[in-house]
Amino acid sequence: MSFPEIKEVCVVGAGNMGHQIGLCCALAGCTVRCTDVDDATLARAEKFADSYLEARVSKGKLDVDAAGSVRNRISFPPEIESAASNADIVIEAIIENLELKKRLFAQLDKICPEHCILSTNSSYIVSSKIAPATGKPERVCNLHFFNPALVMRLVEVVQGPHTSEETVQRVFSFAKKINKTPILLKKEIYGFVVNRILKAILDEALHLHDIGVADYHDIDTAVVDALGHPMGPFRLLDLVGVDLQYQVCMERYRDTGDLRDMPSPLLVEKFVRKEWGRKSGVGFYRYDD
Ligand code: CAA
Repeated sequence: MSFPEIKEVCVVGAGNMGHQIGLCCALAGCTVRCTDVDDATLARAEKFADSYLEARVSKGKLDVDAAGSVRNRISFPPEIESAASNADIVIEAIIENLELKKRLFAQLDKICPEHCILSTNSSYIVSSKIAPATGKPERVCNLHFFNPALVMRLVEVVQGPHTSEETVQRVFSFAKKINKTPILLKKEIYGFVVNRILKAILDEALHLHDIGVADYHDIDTAVVDALGHPMGPFRLLDLVGVDLQYQVCMERYRDTGDLRDMPSPLLVEKFVRKEWGRKSGVGFYRYDD
């Protein structure tokens, strides 16, 4: 059986990751329908698309006509049925909750065309936990983007034991079409490649702070000025969200019972104070705009 090229994309979950993923696809020429159960999130996503494209034009990175075409290719329907019924691929980017994801995939399985690939952008939940909720597990995989999705080139394609070779190939071609660099993970593993490496860095940075070795500004300076990272671990925590990192640690601790997986005292303090980073205006640093 041959499959059509992926042209129609449905993104479910219009938060920071979802709407940027949608824009990446629209910029690459795909028709994108980005949906969410929350009207306010959907409205914010639409506003972001307008202001992002306007800024691209003012920076001279896109001409007005091209920006207009991209804007025409992305829409934000509130109903999942109209968002997904014609999709060649769905990219799920909702919150990290397995039960919600299973329910959503079961619903998508009924709505989407037979050939449609169902992918999840989950950072930690492997698709073999979700695929049994569908009638086509061979078309289910992880397709993991990084924050900010409009900028970061890498995507991780994770092949579960249920994912067919053909699905992997189609997702790889799609990733290249949207100007990403895909890497293949041939096994499902907690945290995939990037977040396993990142966790080691974040844990050590938090530990060094917690035991009083250095202030977090200095730890960030060390990582930027000695290791050449574009931002230090604390500024990065502000970007990805202190709340997300806290929840990821708690979830992992519940699974393993290993005290080393507990969030560090500093992360707990920031979480409780709702100092969650860029999204709340303050995290380890302040974000006045
Ligand atoms: N959203 C969209 N675009 C953004 C952006 C954002 N939040 N922040 C910056 N950009 C764009 C800018 O518009 C600019 O684009 P152009 O060059 O095309 O005009 C470009 O990125 C560079 O921006 P700046 O000059 O303002 O700033 P910078 O050079 O310091 O880059 C950065 C900002 C790209 C965020 C850079 O600091 C960086 O790469 N940081 C590391 C990010 C990282 O490690 N991400 C992975 C996080 S882990 C993760 O995502 C895992 C997970 O599972 C959640």
